[in-house]
Amino acid sequence: MNEVLQHAIAQAAAVLAGASRVAVLTGAGVSAESGVATFRDAQTGLWSHFDAQQLASQAGFSADPGLVWGWYMHRLAMVEAAQPNPGHRALAALAGHVQTLTLITQNVDDLHERAGSQRVLHLHGHIGRFHCNECGASYYLRPEDRQASLPPVCHLCNGYVRPGVVWFGEMLPDRILDEAWQAAERCDVFLVAGTSGVVYPAAQLPVVAQRHGACVIDVNTEPSLQSEYADIVLLGPSGETLPAVLAALPAQSG
Ligand code: APR
Repeated sequence: MNEVLQHAIAQAAAVLAGASRVAVLTGAGVSAESGVATFRDAQTGLWSHFDAQQLASQAGFSADPGLVWGWYMHRLAMVEAAQPNPGHRALAALAGHVQTLTLITQNVDDLHERAGSQRVLHLHGHIGRFHCNECGASYYLRPEDRQASLPPVCHLCNGYVRPGVVWFGEMLPDRILDEAWQAAERCDVFLVAGTSGVVYPAAQLPVVAQRHGACVIDVNTEPSLQSEYADIVLLGPSGETLPAVLAALPAQSG
C-alpha cells in the first residue's frame, strides 16, 4: 500500500475514532470484489454491455417483459452465488466502534446484511424481493419462475410481477430516503464507498452532510465525482482499504 494511501487511512481512522454519528453510502464498487458487476466501470460495467433504459425502466419492461425478467433472474443468481467481502465485513464491524452508524446503500444485493450489518437502508430496493407491477401485491419467487421466459403473473390482478428494484425514472421509497437524508444532516462523518456519484438523489447525500459540517471520506479505486470535494480520499479497493481503516481505529474508541 503506498504512503499516500496509508496516510489517508490513518486520517480516516482518526476522524472516525472521534465521531459519534457516522453515515455510510455504498455503491456497486463495494460488491465488485464479491464478483458482482458494477454498472459503469469501463468494459466490466453492466451498462457497457446492456442498455440501461431497455432493462431497468418501466418502458423497457412493458416493451419486453421476458428480456427484463431473464436479465434480473441472471443477476439474482449472481448475487446469491456471491459472498460478502472484507469491505462489507469492515462496515458491519465499524458499527461497533461508533455510537450511531447508518448504512445507506444503492445496491440491490443483500451482501451488507449477510456480512452482519443491521437495518441497511436500500435506496434502490432489493433484487431478491418481488411485487406486482400493476397492483403492488407482494410475490414469493417459486423455483420454476427462475427459468421462465416471461415474468410470473400476479394472483390478484394478473399483472406481471417485477423485481423490487427502483428503475430509472421511478421514485425512491419515501421513508428510506427521509431517513438517509436525516442521517446525512446529523452525522459527524459521512463515508462514501464504491460509487461513481452520478445517480441522484443518492449522490446528493454526501453534499448535504458536508454542508452540515460533516467530514466526507471517499473510498474508490479511481477518482469519483465526490472525491472532488471529499475531505479525505482513499484511492484503493474497498475490500482492502476499509479493513485497514478498521484496523487503524484505536481499540478503546466508541
Ligand atoms: N472498491 C471501491 N470502489 C470500486 C471498486 C472496488 N473494488 N470497484 C469499482 N469501484 C468504483 C468504480 O470506480 C466506480 O466509481 O465503484 C464505482 C461504481 O460505480 P457505478 O458502476 O456507477 O455504480 P453505482 O455508483 O453504485 O451506481 C449507482 O446507478 O445503475 C444505477 O441503480 C443503479 O444503484 C445503481 C446506481
